[in-house]
Amino acid sequence: MCGIVGYIGDKQAQPVLLGSLGRLEYRGYDSCGIAVAGGSIKVYKDAVRVATLVQRAPQLGGTAGIGHTRWATCGEPSQLNAHPHCDCTGNIAVVHNGVINNFQSLRQQLISEGHTFVSDTDTEVIPHLIEKYYNGSLEKAVEAALNVVEGSYAVIVLAASEPKLVIARKDSPLVIGISDRESFVASDVPAILDYTNRVIYLEDGDIGVITKNNIRITSDGTEVDREEHKIFWNVEEARKGGYDHFMLKEIHEQPKVIRDTLVEYTQVAEPVVDLERMRDEGIESVLILACGTSYHAALVGKYIIEDLVGVPVRVEIASEFSYYGRTLARTLAIVITQSGETADALKAIRRLKGVRCRVVAITNVVGSSASRVADQTIYTRAGPEISVAATKSFTAQLMVLYWLAMGYSKADARRLAGMLLGLRQLPSKVQLMLDNGDTILQCARYLSRYENVFFIGRGINFPLALEGALKLKEISYIHAEGYAAGELKHGSFALLGENTPVIAIVAQDSTYEAMLTNIKEVKARKSPVIALADEGDETIRELADFVITVPRVDAIFSPVVNVVALQLLAYYTAKERGCPIDFPRNLAKSVTVE
Ligand code: AGP
Repeated sequence: MCGIVGYIGDKQAQPVLLGSLGRLEYRGYDSCGIAVAGGSIKVYKDAVRVATLVQRAPQLGGTAGIGHTRWATCGEPSQLNAHPHCDCTGNIAVVHNGVINNFQSLRQQLISEGHTFVSDTDTEVIPHLIEKYYNGSLEKAVEAALNVVEGSYAVIVLAASEPKLVIARKDSPLVIGISDRESFVASDVPAILDYTNRVIYLEDGDIGVITKNNIRITSDGTEVDREEHKIFWNVEEARKGGYDHFMLKEIHEQPKVIRDTLVEYTQVAEPVVDLERMRDEGIESVLILACGTSYHAALVGKYIIEDLVGVPVRVEIASEFSYYGRTLARTLAIVITQSGETADALKAIRRLKGVRCRVVAITNVVGSSASRVADQTIYTRAGPEISVAATKSFTAQLMVLYWLAMGYSKADARRLAGMLLGLRQLPSKVQLMLDNGDTILQCARYLSRYENVFFIGRGINFPLALEGALKLKEISYIHAEGYAAGELKHGSFALLGENTPVIAIVAQDSTYEAMLTNIKEVKARKSPVIALADEGDETIRELADFVITVPRVDAIFSPVVNVVALQLLAYYTAKERGCPIDFPRNLAKSVTVE
């Protein structure tokens, strides 16, 4: 997954391109490059971060250009494999986000026709194909080239001979930014918010011809009109808002995110997922598919929906979904994906639709691929999530799952009223958690010197043990495992000892006594214990080495306050270890390859 940008207008393109690329580094940051048209095409690229390219790039001069920041899939990060890629003449330059599956055969064909390749990438076939088919019209040549390409792509094409950008998308996001006498193109909205908040989302199969004064979009050769959207996110939302890292900013945005998502749905009269209709359609079970943190939200969703609605819920990892058959008859499928672009999630949606399963997508990105292929989309209102480690999107997903389940709960009116009140109090409870970080800081300093950590939880907080471990792993590089607390003694006990701290999530619910027993067992094997426990819980203070107090909430909402404590613990531990928190090694915000 990469980030691509384009500009055409009256301004010098280079600073606009580099500014926008800087905003897309969460999509990949192992190499980057730009190409600017000013008579001829001038390219500058290298296996460096955008900030370094800004320092090193000579003034290329020109008012039209394209740029790219990369997350290597085909061809390791290098100067030659960095984008843009050009044809043999150097008059056509291309930036691409996606994967060309049939590039090897195309490459062989082109080489046999006399083309010379300089990189190991799949992308480089595109400019050579455009050169092959060029006959005076750039858009026609692009169309012909993409007709022989198999795979996913968002591309922006620049040519020395024509004052325009030609763009196209299939299974990778692309958005056009509209303004007077200039146009912008990017993989994602934050890249162009400095310049405009008027955008058009390209649909799969669309080809766009962009000049500084005109935007023309065609689909299957026919001119089409695509709706203009106004983005209410301001530039600052895309920026760090004064926090040291996007991750900390996004953790602190959670009270607002909870409020925004609740406001969004408690005002909706029409049921989002019509369980009545489900029953009419004979829907008997729910299947939730997702990856990573979204998968952990799905696991919490299972406890919530089964508790409140009494419909059996299966939760599966999206990438595993396609490997074993099952009957999907009378099943409602929900696919949770923050970015809406995760390849495993999209593949699962297509497979579900292939067997005529009704698919509801829960996603955070308006206009994302998941929202295009699902039958119905529920948007979480978490705003742009820049940090690779998902935080506020998890909480927003939980809000949607609570709302979904409460909408059709069999629980009595008194309990539902109590829950609605509990939901409405969550933003202030989370704010309390955010304001009382001292113990977390102390625990983070303590934890930062260990290399192996276990997380344990039970019931609705078992998935939180998985999520706490994932957060710590991905940003602090400490090896961490999450366990159902009852499972630890079936083997992993062997790893306990003074060098393996255990984080125990202790909720005031039916799992409380069993968790106390598990903590005693862990202590008996010399592992230090950090407990997450409700305010006023004195019993736990006698057992644990450290106690992180969380505000008291209804047990069914405990994952919301607990996850904020776990996010902060991971953040401050990673900070103690001097890790690159927003851009952890080997990771990217959404994984668009299988
Ligand atoms: C979580 O912090 C990671 N960024 C990763 O596990 C992520 O949750 C996963 O890749 C799924 O992404 P999605 O929700 O955008 O589909």
